Amino acid sequence: MTVIVTESYEKSCQLVAQKIIEQVKSDPHSKLGLATGGTAENIYPYLVTAYENKEVSFANVTTVNLDEYIGMPSDNILSYRKSMDDWFFDKVDIDKKNTYVADGMNSITEEIKIFNEKLYKDKLIDFQLLGVGVSGHIGFNEPNVFLTSSVHTEQLDEVTIKSNARFFKSEKDVPKSSITMGVGDIMKASKIALVATGESKFEAMRQLLLNENIISSCPVTVLKMHRDCTIVIDKNLADNIGYKY
Ligand code: F6R
Repeated sequence: MTVIVTESYEKSCQLVAQKIIEQVKSDPHSKLGLATGGTAENIYPYLVTAYENKEVSFANVTTVNLDEYIGMPSDNILSYRKSMDDWFFDKVDIDKKNTYVADGMNSITEEIKIFNEKLYKDKLIDFQLLGVGVSGHIGFNEPNVFLTSSVHTEQLDEVTIKSNARFFKSEKDVPKSSITMGVGDIMKASKIALVATGESKFEAMRQLLLNENIISSCPVTVLKMHRDCTIVIDKNLADNIGYKY
């Protein structure tokens, strides 16, 4: 793992956006693994600006998103599909047919099959963007006695429900389950970049950055095994957890 410590969360977003832009410039047919969530949201405006400035084109890019809530219609403002459309896909020249966010309303067996086709047809993911949950999850791979390698459904951890309640009217409106890439799917990406910021992520980042353990009670720790993974944190996070840089 390479760890980059930036001046601020905004700088972290800019830096990761630049990595994505470089990836697409070096291979216009790149397959990107994308993330939603509050942390990732602020990366997309930099990609949109780069497109508007004619610095990069997404016309030949394919994307696969990490996850979606089960039972969430794709036109709901809180669905990950709608978020991706609003933040990114509808603002650049990407062919929407080449974007995939799991359909949380489809039969689960059917959707897992489609998800796998999207992940593995033609090529593997070239670049995977990640955030980390308060629970330590990546995608929606929550802490458990074991982790699951491939696409599956996952019950959201209590901690995740509480954290994601900020996007919903109340905690009881947060969907309880999700369909998600497994940790094996994520680890197959050629390159990974994870952005983390804020106090709620301190514990997960301590487990990732301050010891050598890989533990299923903190799924993000599997990234220690990846060959080309960049962790981008701001000074505030690094200083607070005692990460030396
Ligand atoms: C989202 C995803 C999640 C988020 C994580 C952090 O597609 O897979 O793992 O990256 O829950 O979310 P925020 O940034 O909202 O704290």
